[in-house]
Amino acid sequence: MTIPFFNYAARYAEDRQKIKDIVYEVGTSDNFILKERVAEFEQAIRSYTGAQHVIAVANGTTALTILLKAMGVGPGVDVLTPAFSFISTASTIVLLGANPIFVDVNPLTGMLDPEDLERKITPSSKVVIPTHLFSVMADMKSIREIADRYGLRVLEDSAVSLGAIQDGQQAGRLGDAGLYSFFPAKPLGGIGDGAVIVTDDDELARISRMLRNHGQDGITRFYHHFVGYNHRMDEVVAAYLTHKLSRFDDLLHRRRQIAAQYNAALHALSPDVYVVTENHDSRAYYTYVMQAERRDELQLYLKEQGIETQIYYPSVLPLQPAFAGIGHEAGDFPHGETFTQKSIALPLYAEMPDEHVQQVIAAVSDFYAKVKLHV
Ligand SMILES: Cc1ncc(COP(=O)(O)O)c(C=O)c1O
Repeated sequence: MTIPFFNYAARYAEDRQKIKDIVYEVGTSDNFILKERVAEFEQAIRSYTGAQHVIAVANGTTALTILLKAMGVGPGVDVLTPAFSFISTASTIVLLGANPIFVDVNPLTGMLDPEDLERKITPSSKVVIPTHLFSVMADMKSIREIADRYGLRVLEDSAVSLGAIQDGQQAGRLGDAGLYSFFPAKPLGGIGDGAVIVTDDDELARISRMLRNHGQDGITRFYHHFVGYNHRMDEVVAAYLTHKLSRFDDLLHRRRQIAAQYNAALHALSPDVYVVTENHDSRAYYTYVMQAERRDELQLYLKEQGIETQIYYPSVLPLQPAFAGIGHEAGDFPHGETFTQKSIALPLYAEMPDEHVQQVIAAVSDFYAKVKLHV
């Protein structure tokens, strides 16, 4: 591929020596897991987000599991979650023995639809998981208002949205608790799996901190307040993330510059292409996803031009084999299903040169020009 979708070699090039140093330093120390480098990283995220509590864990999926459990989710509990999302927002509910109640998404943004949320609330509903995908945020104000009215807790899945802002507040800080994933593809990508939980709720923080480490309180070793997990963060991962956080704003800024070029050029291709252009300056562009007519043909055409793309996501969650037991059918989530047929992600990473961005734009424009000639 001339223009890859991810370019990890470019992404980590600047840090080659630093990574060697960190691995050597941690590997020859006595401190491998959940020690001072993890504490330092938690403090760095506290400063960056303003969250009162930051709890470093093994990955974003585990952050969701811990928070759901800390919120009292288990057998007999319903959790409202988007039909169009990454698997973790539903799998974690099922693995805790609770029931996912799938909610359709807004037809323009692809994020949890507050109106459908209100329709789907059941007497056993305890938690709602608004999820921000790609670079677009769910409508947190409306969701919070509905959640308060029905006594639901709000677990904000901000796994991909560190640095995004809504109503003057950081993504992850608009619900009762949030999280950020540091999977290598994410804007703050680490050298392995990793994530943090953020919350201002003392009790959620206290329980989450113990759940990540076998129910221990960090003071008395081998005293287990309850049954917990081994979901801790490694020192190597934490040290690298603290290092990278210092240039995170620059990385976000570069991502926004690239997205601005895409937004301007692709918006002009409407109605063949639909892109969300609102709130550009407060968005954290993780992946650049647009809705495209003749999506599969476009993807093939781009591939022929050496441009790699991805489909986020090819199926709504309730129609995945993993959730077949719930009994949903095609047509149950019309907006989410339309997204699965039209959405396509274009390459976007901070290290991407403008020349490549312009090549992608030219190829997408050429495709629709050619399609029109043949109509
Ligand atoms: C919206 C969302 N939530 C949760 C996760 C899970 O994060 P992790 O891969 O760190 O487990 C992801 C991962 O891509 C995600 O996109």
